[in-house]
Amino acid sequence: MTDKRVLLVGLACLDIVSVHDHYPIEDTDSRSIKQLFNRGGNAGNTSVVASQLGGPVEYLGTIASHVFSEIIKKDFQQYNVKFENCRFHENCETPTSCVIINATNGTRTICHGNNSLPELSVDDFSKLNLSKYSWIHFEGRNITSVLEMITIIENFNLNSTDHIRISIELEKPKAKDIDKLLPLGHVVFISKDYAMGRGYTTSESALSGLNGKLRSGALLICAWGDKGAWGRNADGAIFHAPAFSPEKVVDTLGAGDTFNGGVIWALNQGQDLSEALNIGCEIAGRKCGIYGFSGVADKINCLK
Ligand SMILES: Nc1ncnc2c1ncn2[C@@H]1O[C@H](COP(=O)(O)OP(=O)(O)OP(=O)(O)O)[C@@H](O)[C@H]1O
Ligand SMILES: *[C@@H]1O[C@H](CO)[C@@H](O)[C@H](O)[C@H]1NC(C)=O
Ligand SMILES: *[C@@H]1O[C@H](CO)[C@@H](O)[C@H](O)[C@H]1NC(C)=O
Ligand SMILES: *[C@@H]1O[C@H](CO)[C@@H](O)[C@H](O)[C@H]1NC(C)=O
Ligand SMILES: *[C@@H]1O[C@H](CO)[C@@H](O)[C@H](O)[C@H]1NC(C)=O
Ligand SMILES: *[C@@H]1O[C@H](CO)[C@@H](O)[C@H](O)[C@H]1NC(C)=O
Ligand SMILES: *[C@@H]1O[C@H](CO)[C@@H](O)[C@H](O)[C@H]1NC(C)=O
Ligand SMILES: *[C@@H]1O[C@H](CO)[C@@H](O)[C@H](O)[C@H]1NC(C)=O
Repeated sequence: MTDKRVLLVGLACLDIVSVHDHYPIEDTDSRSIKQLFNRGGNAGNTSVVASQLGGPVEYLGTIASHVFSEIIKKDFQQYNVKFENCRFHENCETPTSCVIINATNGTRTICHGNNSLPELSVDDFSKLNLSKYSWIHFEGRNITSVLEMITIIENFNLNSTDHIRISIELEKPKAKDIDKLLPLGHVVFISKDYAMGRGYTTSESALSGLNGKLRSGALLICAWGDKGAWGRNADGAIFHAPAFSPEKVVDTLGAGDTFNGGVIWALNQGQDLSEALNIGCEIAGRKCGIYGFSGVADKINCLK
């Protein structure tokens, strides 16, 4: 249908993951089952998942010119994620997350340090040739600059017959001004944390309650851990996809990013909301059954 790219804007970082059979007790010295040095970051994760499903994918963000960034670049190359428009910064270090996984039930505890790498600026974004993209997704980080980047896309869409679809993720309810992003996406992902932070106790009530704040025609999607995910279409119909249970849950780290990657990929292919939610849940559930991401898309039978 199109050889245009899906672009994911946000963070790529280094993850140092230590897998333990129990969560360690403070001030003790315990052995991990295994340790992994992975490329992480929400947008980085979503890029790799969407690329494995097929079709050209690009990551956009800042990357430190630092030895740890080689892990990030090698991983993108391995999964055929393009990153040539990233802004490379000298004299700063790679943002890093230290993560402890409790392998008994798959929980992940994350400590993140950004090591003073600057955020992507509006100026960096404005250098893109927007004709190359069919879909642009934003991890809602610096709200002010995301608002300006979206204005650039809206202006492009005004004069183009090939509209770019915009999706946005609202994850942290306490992020300043984050609600300003609600009316800007054609597809808006809200996290369970965000929904609960706004007083909703179920995914469905959040979808109904927040609907009035969206742009007309927009889709609103809210994943809810092992309950699966819900989505509301422009006509107000609500769809639910159950979670897909792997044999054993070992690593839920990045389940949300994986879900987003599957949904964005499916919608960009022209699938409907209900189908896209099912694909997102299946790939995210399969991911929870393995460490990291590699090969997660090979296992999706419904796509072949
Ligand atoms: N324990 C689980 N078993 C099966 N599927 C799961 C489980 N946890 C999450 N998922 C799948 O992942 C999707 C996203 O989950 P959730 O909203 O909990 O992610 P998240 O907390 O944002 O993850 P992260 O922040 O680590 O990326 C769910 O809709 C579901 O399909
Ligand atoms: C780790 O998982 C085990 C098994 O479910 C649980 O008993 C323990 O409390 C978990 N620890 C933490 C800190 O989540
Ligand atoms: C894992 O165990 C902890 C502590 O018992 C609990 O809080 C958490 O909800 C469990 N997580 C999952 C994914 O089962
Ligand atoms: C890192 O944190 C500093 C200080 O909070 C902030 O100015 C900078 O924009 C952040 N960078 C990234 C990439 O998040
Ligand atoms: C922008 O991208 C389009 C599509 O790939 C291409 O046809 C066009 O020449 C590019 N424009 C510039 C200025 O590079
Ligand atoms: C967020 O973006 C605005 C506008 O681009 C910029 O002025 C501001 O410094 C940025 N804030 C952080 C924390 O990076
Ligand atoms: C869109 O077209 C209008 C009218 O021709 C023009 O004024 C405007 O600058 C164009 N915008 C962009 C982003 O090309
Ligand atoms: C992205 O996925 C990797 C590999 O599983 C994981 O180490 C990382 O923490 C995830 N990052 C986020 C922000 O979810």
